Amino acid sequence: MILSCPHQAAERLMSGDVVALPTETVYGLAAHGHNAIAMEKIYQCKGRPKNNPLILHYANLRSMRPDVVWTDCAEALAQAFWPGALTLVLERSKTCRVPSIASAGNTTLAVRVPSHALFQDVLRLIQGPLAAPSANLSGQLSPTRCEHVKQWFDGPILNGGTCHHGLESTIVDARTSHARILRQGAISQEQIEALLGGCGFSVEVVSSSVLRQEDQALVMPGQMEGHYAPRKPLRLNATELYAGEGLMAFGPSPLMDDAVHVQLSQTRDLQEAAQNLFHGLYLLDHNPECKKIAVMPLPQEGLGRGMMDRLTRAALGAGRP
Ligand code: TXA
Ligand code: MG
Repeated sequence: MILSCPHQAAERLMSGDVVALPTETVYGLAAHGHNAIAMEKIYQCKGRPKNNPLILHYANLRSMRPDVVWTDCAEALAQAFWPGALTLVLERSKTCRVPSIASAGNTTLAVRVPSHALFQDVLRLIQGPLAAPSANLSGQLSPTRCEHVKQWFDGPILNGGTCHHGLESTIVDARTSHARILRQGAISQEQIEALLGGCGFSVEVVSSSVLRQEDQALVMPGQMEGHYAPRKPLRLNATELYAGEGLMAFGPSPLMDDAVHVQLSQTRDLQEAAQNLFHGLYLLDHNPECKKIAVMPLPQEGLGRGMMDRLTRAALGAGRP
């Protein structure tokens, strides 16, 4: 069911329902962040494992501060990138009002101040935080358009058109002055490094396999391989095309000539490509004229890193039941 305004979404959320809302990254499946029963519904709806914690979205920094142990590193990142596509992992404060289900029993809480105008309207109306994972069934492609959510979710959806970034937020563990990028996303590694380097903080990019060994508390199913998966097999760095494959192109290529294809960006613009990434995967996944998906090489810089992270996981998870 499509809602026509933020007021309707807020009413539903206040009465304990889950509502799909647009953000500047991807659509989220939201529940009131003070209501454990409502947040439990998110897990049920998505088929999400209970050990995978949720991101809490706040209207502003002021309303978030009482819930977390704030750090200088968090302050630098928040000043530079909020409101926006950055999520910070911090320790829960002693006064944290968010039920522990959102932290999956851990001592940390992931927090973000989103910039999307409709999402902000809803946050102001409910006067509390919203827990929201991406609005897809667990393990499947993230939704960047209302129609993607509608395919599987028959609850209320607030339509915000196409999401601006098309890639989820970048997640940074900012608990100490040694920041750790836990998930590449819509704010690039280069942007984070430039900012933190300038303020005297160090940054490390942590892969999920390193996380698994080193910090069990930060090993989340969402950061494991095999997520973001289409139903069809997916092949990366394709420089030729095999029978039955549909092409995900990045810039002009003779490979497109006779093949089913989608174009991520004709001008090889990474921002445009990121915005089209999940929709492109949806289109090829649902196109009966191809049985497999082949993706052209993408630059390993800027938003290309986040895109390759999702595509690598998609390739690992693709075709699984
Ligand atoms: O852009 C986004 O971040 C979107 C929009 C809706 O805000 N949300 C999103 O949520 O991508 P989700 O649940 O699909 O991905 C969040 C990731 C998961 O991999 C989860 O394991 C991780 O964040 N996460 C959540 N809380 C965490 C915590 N306390 N410590 C470490 N990782 C955490
Ligand atoms: Mg997700």
